[in-house]
Amino acid sequence: MGVYIIKGGENLTGEIRVQGSKNSSLPILAATILNGKKNTIIDVPKIKDLEVMTQILSYLGADTKKQGNVVEVDSENVNCTKVPEHLMREMRSSIVLMGAILGRFGKVKVSYPGGCEIGPRPIDLHLKGLALMGVKLSESHGFIYAKTNELKGADIHLDFPSVGATENLMLASVLAKGNTIIRNVAKEPEIVDLQNFLNRMGAHIKGAGTDTIKIEGRRIMDLKPVQDYTIIPDRIVAGTYLVAAAITKGRVALTNVITEHLEPIIAKLREMGCIVNCSNGKIELCVDTPLKSLDSLRTLPYPGFPTDMQAPMMALLSTVEGTSILTETIFENRFKHAQELRRMGANISINGNTAIIKGVKELTGAMVEAKDLRAGAALIMAALAAEGETHVEGVYHVERGYESIQDNLVALGAKIVKKH
Ligand code: EPZ
Repeated sequence: MGVYIIKGGENLTGEIRVQGSKNSSLPILAATILNGKKNTIIDVPKIKDLEVMTQILSYLGADTKKQGNVVEVDSENVNCTKVPEHLMREMRSSIVLMGAILGRFGKVKVSYPGGCEIGPRPIDLHLKGLALMGVKLSESHGFIYAKTNELKGADIHLDFPSVGATENLMLASVLAKGNTIIRNVAKEPEIVDLQNFLNRMGAHIKGAGTDTIKIEGRRIMDLKPVQDYTIIPDRIVAGTYLVAAAITKGRVALTNVITEHLEPIIAKLREMGCIVNCSNGKIELCVDTPLKSLDSLRTLPYPGFPTDMQAPMMALLSTVEGTSILTETIFENRFKHAQELRRMGANISINGNTAIIKGVKELTGAMVEAKDLRAGAALIMAALAAEGETHVEGVYHVERGYESIQDNLVALGAKIVKKH
């Protein structure tokens, strides 16, 4: 499962290039099913989740090749419409394959994606949208069977701006008959990246990044191969490294960043007193005065503060003087890291979806366990600043989303040894 043994107390300094976005790569790889042609995608992070996605594409019949951070997917021979259960359960975001497979073949069988540590993760919004597009859905024995004689454009209003539902319905609409409007959509940068990729393929999509997305249905012969599409940088990985600099009172510069995508994160770090300079494609953070607590930090759909940064920020807030109030509005159960941070001396009380964090002078090293990807990242952040040695168990969760995180942090001066 992998354990990081971290000796805290080093001020991190140096420069890191940020990886391509995990949450952009996943739907874009799924999208390669649509055109039945050869697609080349650049800056795909070398992480477990993307390995699983390429395994699924190969299982479905695609010819996939990986060369470093370049992934080639030739989907001409995709002929299977049943996503393997063992791989679906390994990564719930594979549900986004539904829309792509339905778009191309008109039928698909998927297993109910496992919930995970952060909540039940239902997919009712995905299924309601697909039903409006003429898909007949049935469920049995943990599988969802979806079938349609003809996917047709529809006017869909999402009850909640779900990222996955927005992506799934975009993918299903590309080859549908007629036009689709999806309202109250997610506005995350990853949605815009998916729109840009699909339009490079020959789709006609407008509105990503706003509340409403419009898709004109196309025929598969209208779709072209996509050469050399570069994935946007991972804004959550970038934010995590900024927290690493802040929590260790270091000075770290990041390259391969899109500042606008990080704006909600930078705003909060500046509110705490971090000095953040953004110029010519670089973001640099340093700390020269004691940081302050935050009266209120609420996670919200983009462009609000991202839920994926909630855990790393809780670690940082645990180390600054004063009381911070952190509210998680996106997921029902995304505070699992709090109990582990308490083992390191953090003073955190949870009341429903609100965490009250009273900063302590210093965290102390302990044996802690990562329960999910971002919780694990938070524990690593805390360990970097803690007095003494921390053993973070379950780092395979973290390595699912952060490419070379140990090497990157060590390159910035952290003392991390991995024990298998
Ligand atoms: C995506 O998950 C991301 N994952 C998550 O990142 C991210 O936290 C989340 O969006 C929110 O930004 C990927 O992109 C692979 P949602 P997704 O659908 O699509 C409820 C990480 O750490 N909901 O926007 O699953 C749902 O239960 C991961 O990289 C329904 O009720 O998120 C949740 O409470 C974690 N019904 C809320 O909406 C539905 O049909 C947000 O979910 C769909 C969602």
